[in-house]
Amino acid sequence: MSKVTTIGVLTSGGDAPGMNAAIRAVVRRALSKGLKVKGIKRGYAGLLKEEIVDMDGLSVAETIHRGGTILYTARCMEFVTEEGQRQGAEICKKHGIDGLVVIGGDGSFRGAQKLAALGVNTIGVPGTIDLDIACTDYTIGFDTAVNTAMDAIDKVRDTSTSHERCSIIEVMGRHAGYIALWCGIANGSEDILIPERYDYDEQALINRIIENRKRGKRHHIIINAEGIGHSTSMAKRIEAATGIETRATILGHMQRGGRPTCKDRVYASIMGAKAVDLLMEGKSNRVVAYKNGEYVDFDIDEALAMTKDIPEDQYDIFKSLVR
Ligand code: ADP
Ligand code: F6P
Repeated sequence: MSKVTTIGVLTSGGDAPGMNAAIRAVVRRALSKGLKVKGIKRGYAGLLKEEIVDMDGLSVAETIHRGGTILYTARCMEFVTEEGQRQGAEICKKHGIDGLVVIGGDGSFRGAQKLAALGVNTIGVPGTIDLDIACTDYTIGFDTAVNTAMDAIDKVRDTSTSHERCSIIEVMGRHAGYIALWCGIANGSEDILIPERYDYDEQALINRIIENRKRGKRHHIIINAEGIGHSTSMAKRIEAATGIETRATILGHMQRGGRPTCKDRVYASIMGAKAVDLLMEGKSNRVVAYKNGEYVDFDIDEALAMTKDIPEDQYDIFKSLVR
């Protein structure tokens, strides 16, 4: 039997479409098992300010289809300190929270790890549009974000082709090129620039644009990950060097919003429910993951020690499809 009686749930770090589905699943799965649930608003910042509310089944009604997070999210430097973490653990105990589900990215998991060490049972659920959590092949929000970016890039492509322009479209991913890689394949772009592989050889890029134009290509779409950035100045340099009109479009935070896709709703729901199940089994300091087609869980320490890179074969396939 589980010793956990009251589960807290918070979202932390960058929001991601599907987080509401995960919150809803935590709340309703826990209630279905006879547990109490408390929502902690604004991540660790809200925990330290005791922004804690009781949640029932209706608290999460009408949320599964909504982007963002109904619990709000925040970044909190105070919680990176030992004193902040000690206070956070005390506040959990004061409110009877003996199990905590943290929905967020690697940074949020580090916070969860600290709380677990201070005696609060914690489970992480991976939520970030960047897909850059090493222990899992799926993160909440990536599927929606990449579909949003794909739709936007299709639209830019229409006008780019009409005007026979070069277009640089900047997608999110400060440290990771997954959105750029997936859109590169899905949108059939001519180039992707990603932090994991960028060679700073702008002349080679310019040469490819000139060569493609000579071969009769009517546009040249470059998908540039945020981690490379400088899309506007790059566009000016490309236009000056090639004589081809070039425009930069930065998609920005639109990629973080919007109705979650079916995949994000379903995977997030399953992960949220599994987090509750792990707490009921007496587990702590673990993160729910989706690996090789299965839902699994890892020790947070192990998960945070893992590293992840863009799969070389996928990058190579992208390049071979550009003709
Ligand atoms: P993400 O969870 O998406 O990676 P951040 O890196 O911004 O986002 O982390 C979210 C929050 O997690 C931070 O604002 C901070 O409150 C907490 N956090 C990050 N790193 C640590 C750490 N080393 N120890 C404790 N808490 C941390
Ligand atoms: O959610 C991840 C991410 O979108 C990164 O790609 C980006 O660098 C970062 O969040 C930006 O977040 P914010 O504008 O909220 O600081």
